[in-house]
Order: sequence, then C-alpha cells, then structure tokens
Amino acid sequence: MTAKVIVITNQKGGCGKTTITMNLSGAFGKDAKTLVVDGDPQGSTTRWAASSSDENPFPCSVMSLANLDGKVNREIKKYIDDYEYIFIDCPPAIDNRFTASALLVANLAIVPVVPSPTDLWSAIGIQNLINSALDFNENLQTRLLANMCQPNTSISREALELIGEFDFDKFETDIYQRTAYRQAAAFGGTVLDLDNAKAKEEITALKQEIIKILN
Ligand SMILES: Nc1ncnc2c1ncn2[C@@H]1O[C@H](COP(=O)(O)OP(=O)(O)OP(=O)(O)O)[C@@H](O)[C@H]1O
Ligand SMILES: [Mg+2]
Repeated sequence: MTAKVIVITNQKGGCGKTTITMNLSGAFGKDAKTLVVDGDPQGSTTRWAASSSDENPFPCSVMSLANLDGKVNREIKKYIDDYEYIFIDCPPAIDNRFTASALLVANLAIVPVVPSPTDLWSAIGIQNLINSALDFNENLQTRLLANMCQPNTSISREALELIGEFDFDKFETDIYQRTAYRQAAAFGGTVLDLDNAKAKEEITALKQEIIKILN
C-alpha cells in the first residue's frame, strides 16, 4: 500500500478548504484507510472530527502536523505505507512553509475557489507556489474546484474566463452552496450522512473524478 497524497490549498481564507477536505476524506474513509493531516494551527479538521458522536465516529484518523512547517513532507513519508489516502488541509497563507512542503509529496493539489472575480484574483498566488513545487515533484497534478456555487445560477462568464487563465484545469464537478455542508461540520460528519441528495451526488462525483485522476 502506498498512499495517494491529496493537498487542499488556497491562500485565500474561507474558500472551503476544510469543508472539502473533510467531506472528501470522510467519503474515501468509508471504504479505504484514510488519514487527515491538519495543517492549520487553528485545528479545524481536528475539531471537526472531534465533533462526531461515539456511535458514528469520523471514519479517518486525524493528526495535526501544523507545527512541522517545512518538515511536513518528511513526516508524511513515514505514513505513506500505512494508508491508501492522505488528505492534507492547508492553512490560509501563502508564505507558509507547510504548504510548500506538503506539495512536495502530493499526487494531487485541489484548489477550492469561490467562482467570483475577486476570489479568483486572490487565488492566482497559489499558482506560483504549485508551479515551484512542480520543479521537485513532477507527479503533482492540480485541479481547481468551484465551491459555494449559487444554486440555480451557472458560473458567470467572467468567472469562467478567469478560471481559464489558470495553468490548471477545473474539476467537472462543481460544489454548490448548501446548508448541508454547514450541518456536516456541526455534527462532525459528511454530507453523505445527511438527507441531501444533491450534496451527496456532488461529493460522490468528485470522489470518482479524483480516483480517475489518481489512476
Ligand atoms: N459548499 C458550501 N456550502 C455552504 N457552506 C460552505 C460551503 N463550503 C464552505 N462553506 C462554509 O464556509 C465557511 C468557510 O469554510 P471552510 O472553513 O471550509 O473554509 P477554509 O478555506 O478552510 O477557511 P480557512 O481559510 O479559514 O481555513 C464555513 O462556515 C463553511 O461551513
Ligand atoms: Mg480551514
């Protein structure tokens, strides 16, 4: 077993890194041994998992490595044979050595973006960081993920044009703004445990896309 490492990053705060990390890792963790690495000193993924009930514990191990900074790549390598998937939730900062280090051992970088011009402008910075990692890690693939899309509204032409200017493709699956995502955080689970067919569908579709990219 050699883990596939998936890094969720964007220096922009509040774009959904932790929400995407936990819903995906929870979806993968149902049928594969999965580790979540908390890279945020605020410990959001750790708290998320701690909010789950004893009857329905979060289905992944969660470990905080935020203090390791630029050494996190070294630490991740120690766990690579023990898991099938390792998800790393990054902090919202570009000068952070943690993110640069995590990208060195990543197979896939997911960049959640809110598809509005201002959010996309501030996401451009992450592109340089990912491109620098590519010099050392030629296996690294990257996808943008549109998050908090507005229900019944398609992504605006301006936003799509800006997305097209990035060096990376966007996932076909978009994630919409739904209360289910906030509820999932509140009970320490994923939308797969909730009664929201559309949220379940989009997380399942995203999981399938990721499996395809990683194979
Ligand atoms: N698809 C969604 N639908 C509804 N709410 C969402 C969605 N994605 C994220 N949110 C909400 O937006 C807020 C920010 O999300 P989250 O904490 O996941 O972002 P983040 O990028 O990890 O933030 P930070 O940069 O502070 O780490 C949270 O309240 C979360 O519940
Ligand atoms: Mg976060």
